[in-house]
Amino acid sequence: MLAIYSFDKERLSLLPAGLDHIRMPSHIAVIMDGNGRWAQRRGLPRIMGHRAGVEALKRTLSLCSDWGVSALTAYAFSTENWNRPYEEVGFLMSLFERVLERELEALERAKVCIRFLGDLEVLPLRLQELIASATERTADNKGIRFNVCINYGGRRELVKAAQILAERARIGKLDPETIDEACFEAELHTAGESDPDLLIRTSGEMRLSNFLLWQLAYSEIHITDMLWPDFNREALVLALEDFQRRQRRFGGVE
Ligand code: IPE
Ligand code: IPE
Ligand code: MG
Repeated sequence: MLAIYSFDKERLSLLPAGLDHIRMPSHIAVIMDGNGRWAQRRGLPRIMGHRAGVEALKRTLSLCSDWGVSALTAYAFSTENWNRPYEEVGFLMSLFERVLERELEALERAKVCIRFLGDLEVLPLRLQELIASATERTADNKGIRFNVCINYGGRRELVKAAQILAERARIGKLDPETIDEACFEAELHTAGESDPDLLIRTSGEMRLSNFLLWQLAYSEIHITDMLWPDFNREALVLALEDFQRRQRRFGGVE
């Protein structure tokens, strides 16, 4: 009991003044957008923006962990991002590999439980191996849950869930009448994870770009013009203050 008390006290002291610890989102999702523009504005190749974006993600994960957020879900590569130039896709895949290799120990030390959401079977083999090992090595960690969406598409996720349930019905193991939201949710990549309370999108774009179409049904949305590599403590505080001012009604009335 004492241990829990002092742990919470320590955590409260880390929370920036002005944020109410009672009204913190439990799960934050981020669409990390604007890496390319960040680089272009500096006269750099787009890939430099992706590299800088990794630092922004590390900052965000660490702040969320310090401030008692239970889960962070980050959109790293969409099913549509394969349409980018071959070189950029190749760079991103090798960046994911390098970052995983380099950061795994630090993630373990920080008690982060990392999961990867998306169609992972088509990723480069080396990346798949690193993903499997990071998932396994951090599976029992009790710190923040860090979900990285790679080759993730909301529509594909929903279609796959429908296929799984249809097949189960076809072989007589599922009565279609009994399909409900819980049953559907259990077949999504996010099975077992709560829905995001807050979605943050950087770079000012006001769209979902096929991210968590089911899970974001009642999330609060915060859009900032800041480009992802610039996203920092102040920007996260602004997003959280915005969130704490919202009145969540879930279709009901005050
Ligand atoms: C987001 O930044 C990162 C990925 C989609 C991988 P972008 O690469 O989309 O950057 P912009 O939107 O072109 O500036
Ligand atoms: C969404 O950003 C995907 C990720 C952040 C990984 P995009 O840059 O791909 O989205 P659009 O093309 O602007 O909608
Ligand atoms: Mg973009």
